[in-house]
Amino acid sequence: MPHKIAVIGGDGIGPEVISVALDVMRAAGADLDTTDFRLGGFRYLEDGVVLPDETLEELRAYDAILLGAVGTPEVPPGVIERGLLLKARFELDLYINLRPFVLPDGHEFVVIRENTEGTYAGEGGFLRKGTAHEIATQGSVNTRKGAERCIRYGFELAQSRERKHLTLVHKTNVLTFSGDLWERTFEEVAVEYPDVETAYNHVDAACIYFVEDPTRYEVVVTDNLFGDILTDLGGAVAGGIGLASSANLNPDRSAPSLFEPVHGSAPDIAGQGLANPTAAVLSGAMMLEFLGDVETAERVRAACDGIPSSGPTEEIATAILGNISQGAQ
Ligand code: IPM
Ligand code: MN
Repeated sequence: MPHKIAVIGGDGIGPEVISVALDVMRAAGADLDTTDFRLGGFRYLEDGVVLPDETLEELRAYDAILLGAVGTPEVPPGVIERGLLLKARFELDLYINLRPFVLPDGHEFVVIRENTEGTYAGEGGFLRKGTAHEIATQGSVNTRKGAERCIRYGFELAQSRERKHLTLVHKTNVLTFSGDLWERTFEEVAVEYPDVETAYNHVDAACIYFVEDPTRYEVVVTDNLFGDILTDLGGAVAGGIGLASSANLNPDRSAPSLFEPVHGSAPDIAGQGLANPTAAVLSGAMMLEFLGDVETAERVRAACDGIPSSGPTEEIATAILGNISQGAQ
């Protein structure tokens, strides 16, 4: 049975990198039945459509969603981010954002970013907007259930890893309400996983360690906004954002999960054949793995080993595809 994949190429370099990802997965033996969804900033500019509820319902029928990048400078900030990407994450309950990193020295670690709450929930608003007495608030929503399911996922993942090591990253010294909830939940869940070694870092300190001593990490679990920032840093230390892959998972499988490179639409280099497709290819590998196609996923991942971290799209694609056909011999 082919995997039914909804493809949202999106804006900028999105379609370019997704097309390579699909070629590579197919060359590695993946049986994919894809349907293109014309969504993104370009579509909004065409007819005002972002992600209608009917389209969201259609997406539910797929095994997974593969997304390139969305967002374009002509559309005001937030319209596509909130209306498409966050809407999909929230409505499909993609509560785990998994972002693995491989450092140049071979050290591997993974960040689990809570993906449905925190400041991203959108709580807040304006009072007296545009006046001298303007007030803007932006709250952070943290539920026990939301923190717990994410932390529990972290313990499960750490338990499956070599060192069985899990670090909670937060800012408990200042965020004394949400940080307290996260820390208490972490400590309570830890009791159920006595074989997992735990650590805690404030997010600012974690930024230093990500650069200076990343080998201390194996699995990191953190809130939505900290995870957003920390994973860009992770991408930078792991050889550039052009290599950073991610999975937005609904581990309960009550809806399709969404796989996307961490990078954005990069309008400055779109259409020039300069985008690095590796992050999209590796996101494809994460998708295949989540769909149970573990061997194909491994072939795709292995084919990205030793690939140059920059260069024309075509050249990188050819090198990855070359590795696939070599591996097949
Ligand atoms: C990411 C992106 C998104 C986020 C934006 C585009 C809304 O930066 O996936 O990391 O902040 O989550
Ligand atoms: Mn981000």
